[in-house]
Amino acid sequence: MDLSNRTVLVVGGTSGIGRELARRFAAAGSTVAVGGRSPQALAALAEEGFGTFAVDVTDDASVTSARDAVLARYPELDTVVTMSGVMLLEDLRDPAHFEAALTTIDTNLVGTVRVVDAFTPHLVRRGAGTFVTVTSGIAFLPFPPMPSYAASKAAVHAYSEALRVQLDGTGVGVVELVPPAVATAGQEKVNPHALPLDDFTTEVMHLLSQDPTPDEILVERVLVHRWAERDGTYDDLVAQRSQALAMLPGRQG
Ligand SMILES: NC(=O)c1ccc[n+]([C@@H]2O[C@H](COP(=O)([O-])OP(=O)(O)OC[C@H]3O[C@@H](n4cnc5c(N)ncnc54)[C@H](OP(=O)(O)O)[C@@H]3O)[C@@H](O)[C@H]2O)c1
Repeated sequence: MDLSNRTVLVVGGTSGIGRELARRFAAAGSTVAVGGRSPQALAALAEEGFGTFAVDVTDDASVTSARDAVLARYPELDTVVTMSGVMLLEDLRDPAHFEAALTTIDTNLVGTVRVVDAFTPHLVRRGAGTFVTVTSGIAFLPFPPMPSYAASKAAVHAYSEALRVQLDGTGVGVVELVPPAVATAGQEKVNPHALPLDDFTTEVMHLLSQDPTPDEILVERVLVHRWAERDGTYDDLVAQRSQALAMLPGRQG
């Protein structure tokens, strides 16, 4: 993918990985718009020169009206990144986890479907473009304190695979970005092994720039998760990661 001449929308671009990816695409020469809920973050990004759009991916009407506004301003839009996501801890022994499960599935999975549905007719009409969906190493190797998160990302992986096949022949490609732990969204405080955002994004941009772009963007650090089952390391790694259950508030003390 030539990163210097795209017209990109990053939904979930108001912080973390999405914001850094937006900045990298812009630095490479592409035209970039970002979406998200935070008015403060959107205002700051508008100051930086990005097109900004308020959108809540859990709300059908919000996604549709953001789509209309984006396409009115960027009729040449060719790349849509579905970055919006929440990462919530859940203790499945406490029924109160259910709200977190609903929010996670509605944002990460159904939110992705809403955004993809909103832009599919436009990209197919153009006959060229790319969806970049966002999963996680956790889609392939569970992290037991975040069960609905793992389920949502495994589902987005499966959905991305089907979407790619269904769009075959339309000129619209589907690229799945599979981050490992990256030092954003508070992870930098709890996970000393999280990959620095700068290093991660540099590797991602390099992989995206390959021709043809790989179906999955796998930085070096995520390979251990992505291929655990194939490599026979899955059971040991899940057992190792289960120790993190101690971080759940109800399991301490
Ligand atoms: N950091 C990691 O270790 C890691 C690892 C694997 C995968 N990922 C995935 O990478 C993506 C970005 O994560 P991050 O680490 O950069 O976290 P982040 O800084 O919290 O970014 C999350 C983004 O999602 C947006 N968002 C959340 N709920 C939304 C909603 N209802 N509607 C619209 N936008 C919404 C947020 O914007 P607003 O709050 O402005 O709406 C923000 O821009 C997520 O999908 C995450 O699951 C992250």
